[in-house]
Amino acid sequence: MSPQQIDLVQKSFADVKPIAATAAELFYSRLFTLDPSLRGMFKGDMQRQGQMLMSMIGAAVSGLKNLETLAPVVRQLGARHAGYGVRTEHYATVGSALLWTLEQGLDEKFTPAVRDAWAAAYDLLSEVMQLGALEEASTTA
Ligand code: HEM
Repeated sequence: MSPQQIDLVQKSFADVKPIAATAAELFYSRLFTLDPSLRGMFKGDMQRQGQMLMSMIGAAVSGLKNLETLAPVVRQLGARHAGYGVRTEHYATVGSALLWTLEQGLDEKFTPAVRDAWAAAYDLLSEVMQLGALEEASTTA
């Protein structure tokens, strides 16, 4: 990601923060429309789940300029996700639900450059998460 893309992601997330609860609701309803089979993976209270998701995205977004600090946290998150039953193919569905949600929330501020920057940020996070899941699999095998 370029420094400009990091700025775009950080600035646009600041616009999502005030509507985080609504964004989380929109996100899960879109996710379960795209793939209803994912619904059963979530055991807890969805409002609480939405808060955790938004706060983790917030932490990741603020950490983009400090990848050496962020990466271990995201690898561990990915390893836990493997334990929740999350597989490689699920990352694309979640990415598409996330971009769709940002488009709803940011409206005309969701320019093509902002979309590209978020797609790059999500790709980066999901790759590091999957790396964490692989490491976990190789140490527990
Ligand atoms: C950037 C990507 C993602 C972020 C930031 C994220 C964030 C989180 C966070 C913070 C939690 C709370 C538990 C924990 O910290 O371990 C969680 C749980 C969970 N996530 Fe994710 N997640 C991401 C991708 C995904 C994907 C691709 C799936 C696939 C469907 C998924 C499914 C789940 C499930 C099933 C749980 C556990 C729910 C439960 O215990 O009821 N997540 N996620």
